[in-house]
Amino acid sequence: MNLSRKQMLDEMGLSPQWQRRDRPAVAREASHAAAPTAAALPPGEQMARPENAASPPLADAQRAAEIAQFDWAALRQSIAACRACGLCAQRKQAVSGVGDEAAKWLFIGEAPGAEEDAQGEPFVGQAGKLLDAMLAAIALKRGQDVYIANAVKCRPPANRTPEAAEMAACAPYLKRQIALIAPKLIVLLGRAAVQAVLGEERSLASLRGKPLAYHDGERSIPVLVTYHPAYLLRTLPDKSKAWEDLCRARTLMREMTADSSASS
Ligand code: URA
Repeated sequence: MNLSRKQMLDEMGLSPQWQRRDRPAVAREASHAAAPTAAALPPGEQMARPENAASPPLADAQRAAEIAQFDWAALRQSIAACRACGLCAQRKQAVSGVGDEAAKWLFIGEAPGAEEDAQGEPFVGQAGKLLDAMLAAIALKRGQDVYIANAVKCRPPANRTPEAAEMAACAPYLKRQIALIAPKLIVLLGRAAVQAVLGEERSLASLRGKPLAYHDGERSIPVLVTYHPAYLLRTLPDKSKAWEDLCRARTLMREMTADSSASS
């Protein structure tokens, strides 16, 4: 009996199988194209991961392991030169992050828009102005004990929501940023950031006010979720909810800082 490759793998219980290169461009590139270690695979043999695969293919794992060792300079350089997904084709520049690299506060948004892409800094457009006002409302200032980053470092065309494969390609960068900053508190701005950092698919409304945490090895960092400033610009009634979230964040930070000064 002549079985096709797929039938054979099915029979052997080895599905889902890796898909060959004739998949859609973005998903394929997100997994491998021009990633530093992808070159280890011969051209034509590069394979992309099925969307629901549990563990990354070796090239992704190697790339993530390399990024996990980077210092700030190497990280910035790697982000600037990154070609791990299709977003690199249309960006003016990758937008790494901005602020105090030893900040207690880390705010994470979705992805750069047109102005961020032009200026190379996160949240400099209208949404950024609102974010600055939100920071000021709790006595914070961009760059002073605050770091601002995005889940995805390159602008998606027409500011569309980043795709899962694009978020996956950028995930090692965000993870390394969090590890290097080691913030006391992470504030996630909007659903894409929640998905990228917590892998959470539940609605933002259902996660607001919940005690959440980001885990990386032995490290556990409290996380608060709130609305994205761009959403708040369109949905004014929810601004009061964002204000509640910020007050909660400030209280939590005060408690944590008081705890650590009491115990030292
Ligand atoms: N929206 C984001 O999520 N990030 C930016 O940097 C700008 C707008």
